Amino acid sequence: MFVKLLTIVFFFFSLLSQLPKSSSQVLNFTYNGFTPPLTDISLQGITTVTPNGLLMLTNYTEQRTGHAFYTKPIRFKDSPNGTVSSFSTTFVFAIHSQIPIFSGYGMAFVVAPNASLPDATASQYLGLFNILTNGNDTNHVFAVELDTIGSTEFNDTDDNHVGIDINSMKSVNSSYAGYWNESGQYNILNLISRKPMQVWVDYDDLTHQIDVTMAPFKHDKPKTPLVSTIKDLSSVLLQDMFVGFSSATDYVSEHYVLGWSFRVKGKAPPLTLSKLPKLPRWEPKRIYIIYIWMLYLSIFFIPLLFISMLILLVRFIIRRRRKFEEELEDWETRFGKHRLKYKDLYHATKGFKEKDLLGSGGFGSVYRGVMPKTKKEIAVKRVSNKSRQGLKEFVTEVVSIGRMSHRNLVPLIGYCRRRDELLLVYDYMPNGSLDKYLHNSPEVTLDWKQRIKVINGVASALFYLHEEWEQVVIHRDVKASNVLLDANHNARLGDFGLARLCSHGSDPQTTRVAGTWGYLSPDHIRTGRATTATDVFAFGVLLLEVACGRRPIQIQNEGGERGLLLDWVFEFWSDGNILDAKDPNLGTECDQREVEMILKLGLLCSHSNPQARPSMRQVLNYLSGDDVLPDLSPLEFRGLGIHHGIGELDMFTCGSSMVDSIVSGRR
Ligand SMILES: Nc1ncnc2c1ncn2[C@@H]1O[C@H](COP(=O)(O)OP(=O)(O)OP(=O)(O)O)[C@@H](O)[C@H]1O
Ligand SMILES: *[C@@H]1O[C@H](CO)[C@@H](O)[C@H](O)[C@H]1NC(C)=O
Ligand SMILES: *[C@@H]1O[C@H](CO)[C@@H](O)[C@H](O)[C@H]1NC(C)=O
Ligand SMILES: *[C@@H]1O[C@H](CO)[C@@H](O)[C@H](O)[C@H]1NC(C)=O
Ligand SMILES: *[C@@H]1O[C@H](CO)[C@@H](O)[C@H](O)[C@H]1NC(C)=O
Ligand SMILES: *[C@@H]1O[C@H](CO)[C@@H](O)[C@H](O)[C@H]1NC(C)=O
Ligand SMILES: *[C@@H]1O[C@H](CO)[C@@H](O)[C@H](O)[C@H]1NC(C)=O
Ligand SMILES: *[C@@H]1O[C@H](CO)[C@@H](O)[C@H](O)[C@H]1NC(C)=O
Ligand SMILES: *[C@@H]1O[C@H](CO)[C@@H](O)[C@H](O)[C@H]1NC(C)=O
Ligand SMILES: [Mg+2]
Repeated sequence: MFVKLLTIVFFFFSLLSQLPKSSSQVLNFTYNGFTPPLTDISLQGITTVTPNGLLMLTNYTEQRTGHAFYTKPIRFKDSPNGTVSSFSTTFVFAIHSQIPIFSGYGMAFVVAPNASLPDATASQYLGLFNILTNGNDTNHVFAVELDTIGSTEFNDTDDNHVGIDINSMKSVNSSYAGYWNESGQYNILNLISRKPMQVWVDYDDLTHQIDVTMAPFKHDKPKTPLVSTIKDLSSVLLQDMFVGFSSATDYVSEHYVLGWSFRVKGKAPPLTLSKLPKLPRWEPKRIYIIYIWMLYLSIFFIPLLFISMLILLVRFIIRRRRKFEEELEDWETRFGKHRLKYKDLYHATKGFKEKDLLGSGGFGSVYRGVMPKTKKEIAVKRVSNKSRQGLKEFVTEVVSIGRMSHRNLVPLIGYCRRRDELLLVYDYMPNGSLDKYLHNSPEVTLDWKQRIKVINGVASALFYLHEEWEQVVIHRDVKASNVLLDANHNARLGDFGLARLCSHGSDPQTTRVAGTWGYLSPDHIRTGRATTATDVFAFGVLLLEVACGRRPIQIQNEGGERGLLLDWVFEFWSDGNILDAKDPNLGTECDQREVEMILKLGLLCSHSNPQARPSMRQVLNYLSGDDVLPDLSPLEFRGLGIHHGIGELDMFTCGSSMVDSIVSGRR
């Protein structure tokens, strides 16, 4: 009896001990905010609760998951093999992304067999499944996803959808986020709008209908669900399950739950919306500040850029202008077409390239070029002229000479004057200067006929300058390199007057002697005055040069001692074998008498006494044979007090290693 009673008491106690267990089985709960200390909610992953009670499923950490589970199991079935009871839940959520137009990946309300999902992965799996478990019925997971990225692998329709998921990320049914309002019209909702929104999930155990409804915050629950499906969850859910939220990030997004209620066998208790915690005041600034800055940048920097580019352009144009600036003074206007544009000359010579340099002399360098318009070949002599003194006279003379046209003068096309340089433009002489055919064992030499032609040409040019032109023009720099050969090997005298530019000045004390060593007559050196007779002297030296093929000043022996060609020829003459002085390149096929005549004429022209030198008119007569050269003897020359002494030359060349250069104070 006692035992029976004991048994009854035991049974009663055991029943009693079982009763609290079944009665402790939670069927409903409500969270109007998650103000700490938080009871019955476990936070996993990067999920935290903010001090004001926001459940922050994820923060800005990338590629992470966060979970929040109600820690107590929920009895979904009355018996293990029974059917799932009706249940209902509602929650308010918000999604905030650092980038306003983009967020990832989303969040989900989840019913799972455990209060954790340790194997679930982030990103598109939303912390619900992983690549292996996805789609496996042994998951026993029911979820409602709020997906902000359209993953094609799960047949997502868009990047702003609500879906019902059973054991798989591939939704059973899904819909673009939105709601049906009172007048039965569909309004879309933007999940990542940062605004709080409410979701209702309802399961009916009789119809097996699952409804997911959504609405803006503080909006009544719409009558029409957003998405629904009919599915008996009895095979999916176990008797006791855990409910919670899952979220995963890919990019920098925050997923918030503001409030949550749940109930089995009945409608979820309504949330007291006014009690819900406030979302942080996300200054729209953060990103908009960037936009505003960008706007500022575009407002300030683009014009700034524009202005600086404009400045650069203007500077470039000014530089170009200055580069091609023309200096035209009043007195030049009368020269008209002789005054050429620097720009044209610059382009003609392709910027005075080294490649087109024909040669350099005492006054400057000569460049070959092609006139852009006429395609005419030109030679541009670039004379640097630091002092402006005498420039006007020089230009006037050069241009007046430019007006001359004589078949034995190099035609002057024009000039250009610019800052401290002067450009003289001549016709290009394709065969170069005479010196190239005479000295340094040339590849091409001229035969005697050609040489006579050259001599006659130079003589008639000089005659023209001295006597035929309106006024007497003294060349001042007659020499082989200034005798140019045109296409027909016709001699053309060039570079007249340049020496004058150098020896400017009216004061005889300071007047410098300009010309070229070897061609300078003793009287010119003594007085510093150039006369027609000094031109004749230089012509005489040129005659000897042409006939002998030797430089006017030559190295006589190993010691480097220099001697004048003049003295050298004179020596032969004194010895009575003047013909031995002729150029060995000439061979024997030349008129010996003519060679002798040229040599003697050369000596006569180079007579140290200017009065003894013939005029160019006489020279022409001698050359043509109209007059016969007076029969001079070397003795007479000496008798006349000729002094072609080396000593005198040394006086002027001491210290100068450049023999064939000019004396102008430049070198
Ligand atoms: N019109 C021209 N056509 C072709 N070549 C030329 C022309 N003018 C000059 N040259 C070449 O340019 C070279 C340099 O000439 P440049 O007049 O500057 O020197 P130079 O005659 O030796 O000395 P100087 O300065 O005393 O005249 C000459 O040796 C000649 O070969
Ligand atoms: C919700 O559950 C609590 C006990 O946790 C209970 O007191 C309350 O009556 C329940 N509310 C409803 C509406 O069932
Ligand atoms: C996100 O939360 C986790 C857990 O609280 C924390 O370790 C991490 O530093 C947080 N990251 C950011 C970017 O706030
Ligand atoms: C539940 O169903 C399984 C088979 O589906 C069966 O083995 C078991 O006995 C059932 N349990 C109850 C309590 O009915
Ligand atoms: C999940 O729950 C089952 C029983 O409900 C338990 O056996 C299992 O260990 C749990 N798994 C984890 C990962 O907690
Ligand atoms: C589902 O998961 C179970 C247990 O993890 C496993 O044995 C089974 O092979 C999985 N099924 C599929 C189709 O992957
Ligand atoms: C996506 O849906 C289409 C039909 O709507 C189906 O043919 C396709 O296989 C599905 N893709 C996946 C990955 O399930
Ligand atoms: C329902 O939505 C439509 C479209 O946005 C709107 O025109 C209509 O006024 C809304 N009705 C109510 C009652 O708010
Ligand atoms: C998906 O949900 C919509 C909206 O509730 C519903 O009209 C449609 O029938 C559902 N489709 C499926 C396959 O359940
Ligand atoms: Mg010259």
